[in-house]
Amino acid sequence: MCDLDGEASERRFLLPFAGKAVSPPPVWLMRQAGRYLPEYRKVRAEAGSFLKLCYTPELAAEVTLQPIRRFGFDAAILFSDILVVPDALGQVVRFEEGEGPRLDPIRDLEDLSRLALSKTGTKFSLVSETVARLRRELPGETALIGFCGAPWTVATYVVEGRGSSDQSAARHWAYRDPDGFAQLIALLTEASIEYLSGQVRAGADALQIFDSWAGSLADDQFERWVIDPTAKIVQAIRGRHPGVPIIGFPRGAAPFLRRYVDATGVHGVSCDTSCPLDVMQAAAQGGTVVQGNLDPLLLMAGGDALDLRVDRICEAMTGLPFIFNLGHGIVPNTPPENVARIVERVRTKG
Ligand code: CP3
Repeated sequence: MCDLDGEASERRFLLPFAGKAVSPPPVWLMRQAGRYLPEYRKVRAEAGSFLKLCYTPELAAEVTLQPIRRFGFDAAILFSDILVVPDALGQVVRFEEGEGPRLDPIRDLEDLSRLALSKTGTKFSLVSETVARLRRELPGETALIGFCGAPWTVATYVVEGRGSSDQSAARHWAYRDPDGFAQLIALLTEASIEYLSGQVRAGADALQIFDSWAGSLADDQFERWVIDPTAKIVQAIRGRHPGVPIIGFPRGAAPFLRRYVDATGVHGVSCDTSCPLDVMQAAAQGGTVVQGNLDPLLLMAGGDALDLRVDRICEAMTGLPFIFNLGHGIVPNTPPENVARIVERVRTKG
């Protein structure tokens, strides 16, 4: 459980972390800022490149605030990206229009020697500046979530050089040369600690660690590449900033959920769409704050099925420490009115 100081205790999003039951549950959505909003597309076009948007505090703050103005979510999430960390470390990272991220891949220790923690200062401070600006501009009742990608998930992009369906390049390096791969993970772990710590110093109220590809590993590999580095990050942040809630998002890893929560020390866990509601209930009954897990495709589809599922999730989690969210990020073709509709539904029925 987390102790909240004066101002923070006004923010409903934070109450479940202090052991307080909240009805209706707080609500925010992963990728609540993004291409489904016309106002985002406008600022994105002005910025030119996606990374330019991430590193321009005024614009990054503006797109963070857009969904708060439109929908009044209980939390804002800093607008940035998990690939800011390898970019700041010195890897070449590009976002190609309509194609997703492209990186000059790091495949061995020689490639890895080009990355360094000492390079991160300027880019990390631009992100902290966005956080500071947001804390000034956000309504007092809105919590601000900072984030990073988990070392494993970031490593899958660093090694593959792009998104992949099976993360094979990273999994292969981890088997071929575990000690070398451990050096990459150690560097990403250190960088993530500094990145998150800077966000908290600048005013983030809570943190989320996105491990989107946690579900692709065998159990021993999960232990070494997901649990261990996440536990290190949580321990370091708890030591430096006690009281700041940390949410883990081990996507696709419902069978390991219990082990993940116990071994990493996260205060909350975000559950993906494939996580059964009874598994979410069990985790919440054990005192962990649970977030999730509406299917983003159902949000896009809308209609009665959407309303019914929102009600079903809220009912299942009534009286438990719960935050309403999706099981993964909002997809670009989602009608904004469907988002407004579920926020209203959670608030009136939840
Ligand atoms: O609103 C928010 O959630 C905050 C901002 C945020 C973004 N990315 C903005 C973004 C967050 C928290 C992320 C996390 C992220 N980024 C993850 C973890 C969560 C997940 O979705 O699994 C991952 C794996 C990435 C890496 C990444 N960034 C990919 C694979 C892509 C391309 C796919 C896509 O949706 O375009 C991005 C680009 C990206 N990050 C966009 C946004 C709004 C779209 C780019 C654009 O506007 O041109």
